[in-house]
Parts: sequence; C-alpha cells; structure tokens
Amino acid sequence: MTDLVVPRRLVAGEPGWTTSADVVVVGSGIAGLTTALRLRQRVDRVLLVTKTVLNEGSTQWAQGGIAAALDPGDSPEEHLHDTLVAGCGICDVAAVTALVHEGPARVRELVALGAEFDRDAEGEIKLTREGGHHKDRIAHAGGDATGKEISRALIAALHRVQDDPGIEVIEHALVVDLLQDQDSRVCGVTLHVIGEGQMDGVGAATSRAVVLATGGLGQVYSATTNPSVATGDGMAAALRAGAVLADVEFVQFHPTVLWLGEGSSGQQPLISEAVRGEGAFLVDRDGVRFMQGRHPLADLAPRDVVSRAIVDRMQETGERHVFLDARHLGREFLEARFPSIVARCRELGFDTATELLPVAPAQHYASGGVRTDLVGRSSLDGLYACGEVSCTGVHGANRLASNSLLEGLVFAHRIADDISERLARGELPQSTPGAPSGAAALLDGSARVQVQAAMTDGAGAVRSAASLASTAEALRDLALAATSTEPDPDSWETTNLLHIGQVLTLAASLREETRGGHVRSDHTEQVDPRWRGHTLLVRGADTRVTTTFEPVAEQDLT
Ligand code: SIN
Repeated sequence: MTDLVVPRRLVAGEPGWTTSADVVVVGSGIAGLTTALRLRQRVDRVLLVTKTVLNEGSTQWAQGGIAAALDPGDSPEEHLHDTLVAGCGICDVAAVTALVHEGPARVRELVALGAEFDRDAEGEIKLTREGGHHKDRIAHAGGDATGKEISRALIAALHRVQDDPGIEVIEHALVVDLLQDQDSRVCGVTLHVIGEGQMDGVGAATSRAVVLATGGLGQVYSATTNPSVATGDGMAAALRAGAVLADVEFVQFHPTVLWLGEGSSGQQPLISEAVRGEGAFLVDRDGVRFMQGRHPLADLAPRDVVSRAIVDRMQETGERHVFLDARHLGREFLEARFPSIVARCRELGFDTATELLPVAPAQHYASGGVRTDLVGRSSLDGLYACGEVSCTGVHGANRLASNSLLEGLVFAHRIADDISERLARGELPQSTPGAPSGAAALLDGSARVQVQAAMTDGAGAVRSAASLASTAEALRDLALAATSTEPDPDSWETTNLLHIGQVLTLAASLREETRGGHVRSDHTEQVDPRWRGHTLLVRGADTRVTTTFEPVAEQDLT
C-alpha cells in the first residue's frame, strides 16, 4: 500500500441523456477503428466515440510505418527476437508471438481494405529498416505518411458502412469515467459530447463491454510528438475504476525530434527513425558521429539506447540538442521518400538537403498502460484496452520501432473476436450501473502547465530518486489544491494528466534500475536482474494505490 490516493471519479454533472449499445469503443486510431469495423460484422450494435473528429488521434501522425515480416527473407521468429531485445527482457513472449505471427496477415488485410503502401518497380510492398530491426520489415505509405494513409483507409471503410444501423459514431465525445455495476463490472461510460439536439453535454452510454482505444499520454510532458488529444483519458478512467495498470514508468523518448528552441512546448515535429534507416546519422556540434562504437547497430540502435546517447552527449557538450545529418541523401531522394518531413522542416526554416537538423529526444510513446491479457481483457470484467492505452506486454521496457500500429491491428482483431464469442455465449450480460459513489476530484485546466512542468523536470527522459520525489510532491500539492472548479473538457483532461502523472512518478520511483525507457541517473547500471519484471498498480477500494512487482522468467536476448 502506498500513500498515493486517486479519487474514484471526476467531478461531472449528472448524465442528461443516455444511449446504449452492445459494445462501446472509445477512440478512432488504428486500434479503435479496427475493433469497431470487425465487431460490426459480428454484433448487433457498436457505438464508436471519439474525442474530436475521426482522424485526430496519434495514428494519423505515425510516420515510419508498420513492422511485419512480409519479406520472404525475413521471419516472424526474427521479428520476435528483435522485439524481445528492444523490450529489455520484460516483454510477454506469448503476446509478442501473437503479434509477429498474426501481423503479416493483418497487414495484408489492411491492403485488401484499401490501404496503399509504397511499392517497388515489381509491385511488391517496399520495406525499410528502423532502430532495433535486423531486417528490412517496415512497410510505409506516402513515403513518411503511413499513419495518415492507414487512417484514411479505415475511415473510408467506416464511411462505407455508416448508414448501417449496427454502427454509430459520435465525434467530439470525451469519455469522463467508466460506469460500473455493484460488482465493479464495467457496463458503459459517461461522456461529454459537444453536439446538438439530444446528445449534448454529459450523457451515459451503457453497454455489455467497453473497449478503450484512447491512445497515449504524451501531453503529460511539456514536449511530445503526440497530438493535443493525447491526455491519457482512457488510462486515467481505468485507473479510477480500479483496473490494474502495468509498467507505466516505461515512457519512450524518441531520439530525433526537431529542436525548436528553449521553451518550445506541446506537439513537436518528429523526424522519423526511417530517415536514419535510409542512411542519415547523428553528429554532435563538432561533427563527431557519437553513435559509432556505442552500439553494434550504431545510429539504428534501439530507441532508448540512441536517446540515452544523445542525452549523454548533450550533457558533455552543454548543448540542448545534437544534429541529424541527412544532407548526403540528396534533395531528390529526401523529397520523394520523406515529403511530409521535408515540407514541415521547410515551413520551420530548415532545408534538409543542405542543413544539419537540430534534434533532441522528446516524449513519444507509453510502453505501459492498462494491463490486458492476450485477448485484450483488463482486470475488470467488461473492460478491454487496445493500442497505446493498453499494456499487452508486447513492448516490455521499450517498444521496438513501428510495432505500435501492428499491435493496434493485431489485438483489435483478437478483442473483437473475443467479445463477439462471449456475447454469443451470453457471457457479457448488460448490467445496471451503480449510483456514482466515492470521492470525486477536479483540477482547474489552468494547472495543466504545472503538471507538465513537474513531470518534465523530474520524471522525464532521465530520473532519480530526488527528482521523482520533488515531482511527486509538486503533483500532490496540485491534487490537494484540486477544487470543485466548474467541470469542462479542459479540467477533465488536466485531472487525467495529474492522475497519470502521479502513478507514473510512483512506478518510476519504485524501479531502482535503468531499463529501456526508464533511465535513472542514480541507478545507471543496466537492467538489474532483481528488477526483471512488471510494476503493477491498482487503486483499491479505499482510494489508495497498491503496487506489486511481478517477476518475469529470464529470456535469451543474445
Ligand atoms: C518514427 O517514424 O520514427 C516513429 C515510428 C514509431 O514510433 O514506431
């Protein structure tokens, strides 16, 4: 038992309207859209709710691509091995096995659905390489606009069935909390809709199962590659409802985020790892290629290794960034292969063909999340999680590049199949939500920058016991100051960021080692075997957070 207290729910008005479905899917990235589309063929009524509009989530921003052993010279076993190595010994082998074996078929289905990947002269899908991969296995679209193309294809598929009464989409719908029956079974969500007519304001959507596909938590930090919608809403709601979270201390900082100057905050421009995959490399201010000799894969080492090397080099030189050199790739190639990155850099005043690009690590991906089993079930009956909000065990301590779109795709299928089979067996009856109970909290939206500053200062790319303690204290002070401010989307999101920040800081302070995305300056020795396992957190009935450590068997990472 820890002394961290997380309230049961957010302060919100009584639902003014209700709706119902067999399954509510929350989120419209690759995970949510795939789950909803597959469920729709199997159950009577699916409700897909999304916070802004269908294409606003993180999927849209994915540049590099989707990893799968599609080449005859590659194999799922090799993809498995690279994933386990990147995950630093704590991946769930069964989850990764499912990912790499089912992945190629799922990608081909995506192609059949209409996603257009880049192809070579023979018409085969072009494959490239990113950090941590020993084979070319990253399929990409529009050069560096893979997420956009996948999102387009899935949304087009949704539009083709939108007149079907079996599926309803509600946009501008922020999920506030989960509805639970008297046995804690999840039986719907409360949500705030900026709509018109009947569905406006806070309402309740009851269902026999809820799938959280709400994406990441990047906005808990001052600078991130994640879009503004990534405020950890699903993970925070699951935490308050009493679902087990796993490995939330493992946050991936992408090594090459364009450095826009001191104090630049919010979503920052990503320079895809695929640029290094095509031959670009990192240098310091003196032109030294500091990744050489640091790791056998040099500039294409796993992301945590590259980010740490950059942070070390920044400390040694006293600079706030290093540089990415892509000049030798040539203008013609860069413009054809990376049109979006080249255009964005140009808008910001950088010529990728003639100039070094200043880059520094920034928050990119949450490797932990709502703990799920192999079919996406969380610890709460009726609640599933898919994609970045979940912790399937696929990523371990550090996600392998371009495994996230694949995870969303593979586990969405598994979840849809599990739910439809259970519904057919009558295993998920619609239960009645209990009356709201327990403490409710709300932090004013104006405190968001304070949450982000506390997290960035003490729980960012490099942490220590002292820095985490001061972050925990700052967040506790903010939590104590939480008042009954008028609820609105900004205050709900800010409170979600606070709750996620608190548990992330707690988990990071417990793990006294450096492993993957969790870097402790006071425990610099790599992967202490005593910490080979998962950090589990759960909010108990008395609102206190309990933590447990679950060891993992040693894996062959040679
Ligand atoms: C990138 O393109 O570097 C990001 C891809 C990923 O996060 O997997």
